[in-house]
Amino acid sequence: MTEFEVPDPNATGLENEAQPESLRLLQESRRKLAEGGGKERVDAQHARGKMTARERVLALLDEGSFQEVDAFMLHRHSDFGLEKSRFPGDGLIAGFGKIQGRRVCVYAHDFTVLGGSFGEVAGQKVAKIMDLAMDAGVPVIGLQDSGGARIQEGIFSLAAYGELFYRNTLASGVVPQISVMLGPCAGGAVYSPALTDFIIMTKGISNMFITGPEVIKTVTQEEVDVETLGGAAAHASLSGVAHFAVGSEKEAFETVRRILSYLPSNNTEPPPAVVPTDDPWRMDATLNTLVPEDPSMPYDMKVAIERIFDLGSFFEVHASYAQNAIVGFARLHGQAVGVVAQQPMHLSGVIDIDASDKISRFVRFCDAFNLPLITLSDSPGFMPGVAQEHGGIIRHGAKIVYAYSEATVPKLTVVTRKGYGGAYIVMGSKHIHADLVYAWPSAEIAVMGAEGAVNILFRREIRAHPDPEAERARLVAEYREKFANPYRAAAHGFVDDVILPAETRPRLIAALELLRDKQSTLPAKKHGCMPV
Ligand code: HXC
Repeated sequence: MTEFEVPDPNATGLENEAQPESLRLLQESRRKLAEGGGKERVDAQHARGKMTARERVLALLDEGSFQEVDAFMLHRHSDFGLEKSRFPGDGLIAGFGKIQGRRVCVYAHDFTVLGGSFGEVAGQKVAKIMDLAMDAGVPVIGLQDSGGARIQEGIFSLAAYGELFYRNTLASGVVPQISVMLGPCAGGAVYSPALTDFIIMTKGISNMFITGPEVIKTVTQEEVDVETLGGAAAHASLSGVAHFAVGSEKEAFETVRRILSYLPSNNTEPPPAVVPTDDPWRMDATLNTLVPEDPSMPYDMKVAIERIFDLGSFFEVHASYAQNAIVGFARLHGQAVGVVAQQPMHLSGVIDIDASDKISRFVRFCDAFNLPLITLSDSPGFMPGVAQEHGGIIRHGAKIVYAYSEATVPKLTVVTRKGYGGAYIVMGSKHIHADLVYAWPSAEIAVMGAEGAVNILFRREIRAHPDPEAERARLVAEYREKFANPYRAAAHGFVDDVILPAETRPRLIAALELLRDKQSTLPAKKHGCMPV
């Protein structure tokens, strides 16, 4: 079977039976649906390495599970020759089905019909399927391959997108929403995904932009090709618009399945647990020597993540974006959790604007969908610099503290090394109501690092000293001994225990078990005003 050969969705097994004419007509109509915008356009779609919308839906869903809705809807417009392009379904396939046995709603733009453009009918179909998803409490997956608002339908297209954006917003935090970008997507075809929880882009095939290269050239005289502007690499690593960049459509669908495997179907359910395959008591001695003695030396936080959580369970989100922060899903003794960490290997793990966005958004997502938060904090500070200050690091960094403070899911934090100043407070500290905070013996919880503190506190004394460098070294050593450890924080209950790194896994599993039924509520309000 080639990539593009999929089972005939219309096969009923009755083909050879004598049938009433009405049934035969329905069969015939269904067969036509599979043709999309016609053979020529379907061939062109395949020639670009893309499946058709129907092939995609069938490839994504469990075999035989797709139930189509509104297949026969037709648009009712005629400007600019539109009456000649009336295809059943009108360039959008919508329905419901199952992924790994769990119910989902799905829609897919059909690029073979008027470039998958989004008009009044597409809007009505997506609105219906999203309303069904909300009522049923199941995730919505949108397969995007669309030139945006159907130009010929004018205000009707814009109205349709408005209705979609409205629903994306209302569904946010109620059911998971995933967008898969599978072609050139412009206008509303990128705004709607931007309102969803996860965006997956196919490399070399999909792109996303608000204003295309021609517009940019006209307005700014800048020359840019479409891939550089809005390809998967650009959005997965620079803009952060895409959470995943994958090599093929198949990989994109695999990614959807993997994301959903960690998520509940809606915000009233717990995330699905799996039968644990890893020893809950497993203690990994290599963790004891992971953090170098010298605080200026980096180490790979991903090693800690891989060894603490159930083996092979970590699934990174936003892997190429703001790599000084790490976010992703994992399991602890079979229970799905959200992991937030800092990466000393990249910019020493400092918090900058992009990391603030990445962390705060993920924390809010986990809280909305009942995923406990496990934070591995090595937080040396906020990124200094004019660009960061003028870019608004103050308000961006504030989002992290806002997101953690507001989160009511179980929150467990492990301080592995640096816990300096505000950057320590925001990363799930006890002070913003983490449930349990552990520290490794290598933790240094203080207002700032030793060198910086000594330079500020003793500048005059050091300058006046006959041997300034020796005096500086003495003061740094004294500060280290006093402050660069976890015991001062532990002595005051700001750290619940100092643990051996190797013990981290069983300690977190035990804490998570304690907090399984955590009940916590926020003050009654319409909603807060996050410093976005
Ligand atoms: C109607 C459209 C269309 C559109 C493409 N087509 N976009 N028809 N409305 N928005 C048609 C083309 O005319 C063409 O038809 C067929 O789809 C395939 O398009 P091509 O241009 O041949 O394909 P390609 O070269 O791959 O380029 C794809 C594309 C480009 C990058 C998407 O078509 C494009 O730039 N389209 C316009 C994008 C855009 O500006 N959309 C409006 C955004 S405003 P034929 O019959 O010739 O093959 C918007 C507002 C929403 O969405 C509100 C936001 C807040």
